[in-house]
Amino acid sequence: EQNKRESLYIVTNFALDFFKDQLHETEDGQAIGLSYFKERQFETDIIKKFDLGYAPGKNIFTKTAEEKGYKDEYLLETGLIKQNDRGKYDGFRERVIFPIHDLSGRPVGFGARTLRSDPKVPKYINSPESDIYKKNRILYGIFQAKHSIIKNDLCFLVEGYTDVISLHQAGIENAVASSGTALTEGQIKLIKRYTQNVTILYDGDPAGIKASFRGIDLILQEGMNVKVVLLPEGDDPDSYAKNYGKEKTLDYVGQNQTDFITFKTNVLLKDVENDPLKKSQAIRDIVNSIAQVPDHISRAVFIQECSSKLDVPEKAIIAETNKIRRNQFNQQRRE
Ligand code: UTP
Ligand code: MN
Ligand code: MN
Ligand code: MN
Ligand code: MN
Repeated sequence: EQNKRESLYIVTNFALDFFKDQLHETEDGQAIGLSYFKERQFETDIIKKFDLGYAPGKNIFTKTAEEKGYKDEYLLETGLIKQNDRGKYDGFRERVIFPIHDLSGRPVGFGARTLRSDPKVPKYINSPESDIYKKNRILYGIFQAKHSIIKNDLCFLVEGYTDVISLHQAGIENAVASSGTALTEGQIKLIKRYTQNVTILYDGDPAGIKASFRGIDLILQEGMNVKVVLLPEGDDPDSYAKNYGKEKTLDYVGQNQTDFITFKTNVLLKDVENDPLKKSQAIRDIVNSIAQVPDHISRAVFIQECSSKLDVPEKAIIAETNKIRRNQFNQQRRE
């Protein structure tokens, strides 16, 4: 209901101002939070542009919010305050804050990074879903990126908050991240409002590769164009952009981006060129992606590419594609 949503926006707005104020105006915020961002070479204007902040702990947020009369109901729903049998406490404590904005720039949630390198502590804590934060409908950075996505007719899809920020700082402003959830169909539809073209730029590690497989299928299902760039192992877009800057990053992307067939072939057939079982598994995996493409002419083009690249008769791929599509169709009807 509208009134409740307005109340939630008021609370997240207050929290945004609070976290920013803590970062810039308090001793701890400057000594701990701001120096952390500076250490990561985030510049002042980018810290401001992304509304970065600091959550102090000691339940200072809870005390301040209640003093100012913000209602527990809304503070709890947004996860800014939590509650256990010993009472209420701050949802984010001694963490740097990455606010998540909706399309019109209103803060709807927060990502909060620990400053410790203790593997037992979760690196990021993210706001829960609420009436104003539907994770399926938000991408981190979309508010700051949308004009550049339109201008470049291209959206870079990255994994994390700091990837979006570092690319932006380097002058590559058309980047968004799925922000602490597995990528969803709704998030791809959000990109589709601005462009048909997505380049996946995930971390150069096994988790990044796995996540890009999922991204590929979601993008293909929307009838959009997808390219994939595999970063050097151990790099993510944040580290790459920091180390090499805009031109070299874009050069790397230009030289290493491949279509999904080539990408999957490279990943799945790495080191197993002559293993027939591995090869047929790889073909199945690729054909499964091809089957996600709604347009049959595009499908035909991909089938041809797959056939010549992997040296399998087109007929076999067509038959398998049709089988997968039939099964998916029947399954959708049953649901
Ligand atoms: P990464 O582990 O790659 O972190 O997770 P990162 O973005 O490179 O962060 P830095 O450079 O170490 O600070 C990628 C993204 O996955 C989500 C966050 O959105 C993160 O940016 N994530 C990761 C979580 O939500 N929780 C976690 O505990 C870890
Ligand atoms: Mn990673
Ligand atoms: Mn669908
Ligand atoms: Mn990363
Ligand atoms: Mn990183």
